[in-house]
Amino acid sequence: MEKSMFTFVLLCVVWLHVEAMTVNIPQKTYEVARDRNTTVPCSFTTTVASPKSAVITWSRTSVDANVDVVILTYYYPDDSYDLTANFDPKRFSPDVDFLKGKADLLLKFLKLEDSMTYECRVQVRGDVSGKSAATTDLVVLVAPSVPVCKLEGKSEYGQNINLTCSSAEASPAPQYKWQSHDVQNNPRPLDPKSTLKGGTLSLFNVSKDTSGYYICTSANKVGTASCNMTVSVMPPSMNIGSTAGIIGGVAAFLVLLAIIICCCCCHKKKKAEEEYAMGNAEEYKDNDPEGNDEKRRPDGEESTRGNSDSRVSAERQDKYEDRNERNDDRHYDDRRSDYDDRHYDDRRSDYDDRRSDYDNRRRDYDDRRSDYDDRRSDYDDRRRDYDDRRSDVDDQRSNYSDRRDKYSDRNERYDDDRRHDDDRRYDDRRGQR
Ligand SMILES: *[C@@H]1O[C@H](CO)[C@@H](O)[C@H](O)[C@H]1NC(C)=O
Ligand SMILES: *[C@@H]1O[C@H](CO)[C@@H](O)[C@H](O)[C@H]1NC(C)=O
Ligand SMILES: *[C@@H]1O[C@H](CO)[C@@H](O)[C@H](O)[C@H]1NC(C)=O
Ligand SMILES: *[C@@H]1O[C@H](CO)[C@@H](O)[C@H](O)[C@H]1NC(C)=O
Repeated sequence: MEKSMFTFVLLCVVWLHVEAMTVNIPQKTYEVARDRNTTVPCSFTTTVASPKSAVITWSRTSVDANVDVVILTYYYPDDSYDLTANFDPKRFSPDVDFLKGKADLLLKFLKLEDSMTYECRVQVRGDVSGKSAATTDLVVLVAPSVPVCKLEGKSEYGQNINLTCSSAEASPAPQYKWQSHDVQNNPRPLDPKSTLKGGTLSLFNVSKDTSGYYICTSANKVGTASCNMTVSVMPPSMNIGSTAGIIGGVAAFLVLLAIIICCCCCHKKKKAEEEYAMGNAEEYKDNDPEGNDEKRRPDGEESTRGNSDSRVSAERQDKYEDRNERNDDRHYDDRRSDYDDRHYDDRRSDYDDRRSDYDNRRRDYDDRRSDYDDRRSDYDDRRRDYDDRRSDVDDQRSNYSDRRDKYSDRNERYDDDRRHDDDRRYDDRRGQR
């Protein structure tokens, strides 16, 4: 009986010895505002009366990366520690009193990124059994930043749209809530068909009644913030984008039309100008050689005959006189009157016709006016030219009159000579008889 009792106690001692090591963190989570200092508490017990050595390790695991990173390692009895690279010694340090079972971690100037799961592990030499580690969540509290409200999709009748809301910063994660006000800014319940997932409010088959103000509130235990957006649902055709498109299209069409009209006008104008120029050139070409021929031919004839007539005999002179007379009478008078009648009248009527033509054209094309003036002066020049030639002809005519007088004198002289000769011959004959 005593023996079995002793054995039980011994077993209990052995069992206690096996379960000797304990590590404990009082709370599952610690919430600390950003930029504050905090202590993450950790306590331990060991049955080893006077341990020769021990190691305390603090590490942390981010929720998303799920990688355990050692922050620092504390050594007993050295009372010294190694801080893992990349950890700021001003921010991370151990607060250990080994003999009292205290292995706290000091954290200063808390950042949002320090929100992680922290683990405290105690290893005592000679005490390999029991629970040697404990974990806790540290939550660095940050009030939500002012959320950003956005509209996804087309706010046209019959469409489905999403209203999104998101705070860049918030810890713990914020709860998003949407409220709606109508266009008169009176609160109203959300469409029961709408759904809310995270910060996204989905609205289905939107209509004019969907228009109004939508306010999103982002809230956590530290604070709240909100954004306010105006939603105006329009008929598809009244959409600003399509309206702008229509306006742009109309503008583009008008510009194109203007260009086409301009091109057509220019082309037509050019063509008309070309035709006009060609027509005049032909007219003038027809007139010019004719006038020159008619004027030059008599000039040439007269001048060649005038040169040769000084050495001709009386018969030829008579013939020549006849011809001169013919030339003078027929050629010059006929031709001049002919010329006058035809050319002046023709040209004048031609000119008048052309002038009315010009007037018409001038009414149509003002910029042709200078052209017309040029041609008109051209015509004046030619007319002056003609007048000059005409006076030339007059001069020549008076020249021929002079020559005729000369010929008459010579004839008289010739007659005198003949008479004289005849007389002399008669006298001679009489003397012979
Ligand atoms: C945090 O600790 C540092 C020095 O250790 C001190 O200067 C600072 O004022 C403390 N901050 C707060 C919010 O107590
Ligand atoms: C709205 O959000 C849902 C998911 O929440 C998505 O399936 C849908 O395509 C979104 N609609 C628009 C118009 O962005
Ligand atoms: C959308 O709403 C209009 C009335 O606003 C209704 O006539 C139509 O049937 C609805 N369409 C769908 C697909 O729910
Ligand atoms: C939302 O904004 C509109 C003007 O942009 C304002 O009239 C309205 O009062 C605001 N609503 C809230 C709840 O802030």
